[in-house]
Amino acid sequence: MAGHPHSTKRSNGRRRPFGKLDFNQSPFLVIWEVTRACDLECVHCRAEAQENRHPLELTTEEGFALLDEIRRFGQPMFVFTGGDPLKRLDIFKLTAYAKKIGLSPGMSPSGTPLLNRDNLQQAAEAGINTVSISIDAPTAETHDEFRRVPGSFELSTRAAKTVRDLGLRLQINTVITTYNVDLLDDMARLVTDLEAARWEVFYLVPTGRGQELERAPAEQYERVSNWLYDQTSKLDTHITAVEAGFYRRVVLERLAEEQGVTPLEVLEQSQSGHGRFLPKMNSGSGFVFISHIGEIYPSGFLPIVAGNVRADSLVDVYRHHPMFQELRNSDKLRGRCGRCEYRTICAGSRARAYGVTGDYLAEDPFCVYEPQPA
Ligand SMILES: C[S@@+](CC[C@H](N)C(=O)[O-])C[C@H]1O[C@@H](n2cnc3c(N)ncnc32)[C@H](O)[C@@H]1O
Repeated sequence: MAGHPHSTKRSNGRRRPFGKLDFNQSPFLVIWEVTRACDLECVHCRAEAQENRHPLELTTEEGFALLDEIRRFGQPMFVFTGGDPLKRLDIFKLTAYAKKIGLSPGMSPSGTPLLNRDNLQQAAEAGINTVSISIDAPTAETHDEFRRVPGSFELSTRAAKTVRDLGLRLQINTVITTYNVDLLDDMARLVTDLEAARWEVFYLVPTGRGQELERAPAEQYERVSNWLYDQTSKLDTHITAVEAGFYRRVVLERLAEEQGVTPLEVLEQSQSGHGRFLPKMNSGSGFVFISHIGEIYPSGFLPIVAGNVRADSLVDVYRHHPMFQELRNSDKLRGRCGRCEYRTICAGSRARAYGVTGDYLAEDPFCVYEPQPA
């Protein structure tokens, strides 16, 4: 959900005070997959979500302890995800606790009958601030085919309106695959019609069921990145690209073209205080994920277990686990990512590198960029 700082308005995203964040100490975004249970059967689902809850899910009490531990990081952005968080009966208790201890929780429920006004009202009362709803294609026919449950589009769009009626912040999530890439103009219109505050666009990661999907060529994601940049001046919605570090390189290139300078000059200027290009935010770098059974991953799309909150301190694992430290060190990257001038702000998708090659430090296969010789 919200907050991957690959986001831009045409101003290149100079909106949040990220300057003092130290990703070696604290993540910007913490996501807890409270359950993998979900009534959708999405073709790309990273979690391979199932209908029923897992017997070893963290209990309510363990959830409270986890929330306390997350609070030790300070006040990172925090999201309850799934599966479908509404499949957990204690979700509003967990929400209220998160709110009570000073977190500002978001939630990403699934477009099923559980996403009704009553549940959204309870979510609002318990303290949810942002609700992200996945809509992957602009019509019932196309969206429902992707999510493999008839009626999901109708429930999701209706819920989006309810979220706004209740005064909650609305985020729409869309994953880009060969399936919907030609539908993006209509999708942008729908996001505008729904008056979403944020549109988070996920570039497919071949993990979970996503491994079975046809992979688009890298050029297609380059075109999408340029298209997304164009939308930043057209839509009144904040746009974020997820698992798409190279989108930031595209933004630099486009700003450079507009300003008649080089992309590296834009980067230098922003780093000397005229704007900002944030440090890369990526798996394990500004980001940490806790699975339904308490496993600690660098991200939900990079399911390598670094510990378990039942036995380990989340804070210690994030700060000191060798994999997390390696993921934050762009000098460790290999292939084109290792040679790339933009590696400190991009670093490629570590999850995609892992999904495709089995090496989380390998180059991101969705990026077309050939680094310049040093
Ligand atoms: C893990 S889902 C969980 C929330 C909820 N079940 C839903 O459908 O939105 C959060 C976001 O991750 C995206 N996602 C899931 N699997 C993905 C994959 N393999 N690659 C990229 N994005 C993915 C989904 O489309 C969704 O927008």
